[in-house]
Amino acid sequence: MEQVKVLLNDDEIPRQWYNIQADLPKPMNPPLHPGTGKPVKAEDLAPVFPMNLIEQEVSQERWLTIPDEVLEKYLLWRPTPLCRARNFEKLLNAPVKIYYKNEGYSPAGSHKPNTAIPQAYYNKVFGIKRLATETGAGQWGSALAMACKMFDLECRVYMVRVSYEQKPYRRMMMNTWGAECIPSPSTMTAAGRQVLAEHPDSPGSLGIAISEAIEDAVTHEGSRYSLGSVLNHVLLHQTIIGLEAKQQMDKIGVYPDVVIGCAGGGSNFAGIALPFVRDKIYGKKVNIIGAEPSSCPTMTRGPFAYDFGDIAKMTPLLPMYTLGHDFVPAPIHAGGLRYHGMAPIVSHLVKEGLMEARAYHQLETFESGVKWARSEGFIPAPETNHAIAAVIDEAIRAREEGKEKVILFDWSGHGLVDLASYESYLSGKLEAYELPEEEILRAIKATEGFPRP
Ligand SMILES: Cc1ncc(COP(=O)(O)O)c(C=O)c1O
Repeated sequence: MEQVKVLLNDDEIPRQWYNIQADLPKPMNPPLHPGTGKPVKAEDLAPVFPMNLIEQEVSQERWLTIPDEVLEKYLLWRPTPLCRARNFEKLLNAPVKIYYKNEGYSPAGSHKPNTAIPQAYYNKVFGIKRLATETGAGQWGSALAMACKMFDLECRVYMVRVSYEQKPYRRMMMNTWGAECIPSPSTMTAAGRQVLAEHPDSPGSLGIAISEAIEDAVTHEGSRYSLGSVLNHVLLHQTIIGLEAKQQMDKIGVYPDVVIGCAGGGSNFAGIALPFVRDKIYGKKVNIIGAEPSSCPTMTRGPFAYDFGDIAKMTPLLPMYTLGHDFVPAPIHAGGLRYHGMAPIVSHLVKEGLMEARAYHQLETFESGVKWARSEGFIPAPETNHAIAAVIDEAIRAREEGKEKVILFDWSGHGLVDLASYESYLSGKLEAYELPEEEILRAIKATEGFPRP
């Protein structure tokens, strides 16, 4: 019988996260203080994040030890299985072996708890009592709600309004784990009130929700802010995905030709890919592809520039591919991919040619996700469908080129709380949307006054 799942025992779980900073052939541009235009200092970030996470953010050490308290929580669902998608392979009829890391297996249903758990832990150890955050699709908010409860912290989540309305069950999950969930833009913060004054019907965006959550954290005693993607320490925590995947592939003696992940802020893509990028830096041949929505084509059409991470300009200036910090993406169903920027690490690696990006339309991603569900059974999150679309693309290329290929991808989450979006797709209500060229030109203009990386 052919092996379909490769499992690791609990005692084989990785004990360290991998930090790509130590292996970068060319160092990254630093984040800049918007006031001085100089690199930000650790103290500048102290009102927003606890110092132990700031240390991880700037660390150049290759391996960072995972604390026992975090490992203990990881073991509730990790190591996650590496599965071979035999039925999907048959459907595609291409000379490919497809392996996927099932991150939908976590209690919150996605990869997000991989960083929510350590972030809650480090805040707790630092003496913080309460976290504020934003969420797009609700996956991050629910993951942090769960993690905060596990480490006895209060939690408030600003949820992008369009997702709040489309996905009531995510809010209920957050409430079940004891967190407060507020639709953003809200009247609770000056940033939210300003947006509502100009656009009373604003669908919200991650950029707006981030502004609200940061403002909330810095104006409440004993509070800090927590971000579910983009930053270096978040990507660091997510490397557990790729480290496990490497161990699992080693066990069966295979190595991927292609590694794929969907990319919103870049965390699950980086999580699966960074350990393989390291191999690539040292000479291995492997293609690494991030799949983004064509309605929010940060890497494929945005400029590489210094820009803010949020609409109210509360974050440092980050060197990244961006559509402009005031960009409000169309309300497509993959809420977790509606972010104007991209993780500086991923942006840097794309710029250096160590990773590449492709964009997919909403309709083709749902078509891909439905094919997956009808062959492999598991119903993917709308974000994950972008990765599946890229897998299909690669399989078709392999068939056309007559080349055998091993594809590894991150199955970043399940879609059981996103069934309303499947209903829209299946009933023909979902629309194709292409970002007009004027929007891209506007995005480039929005970053014109900032320093160039
Ligand atoms: C299931 C799932 N996949 C992917 C993403 C995109 O985030 P990131 O690019 O940080 O992995 C999200 C974000 O909410 C998500 O919920």
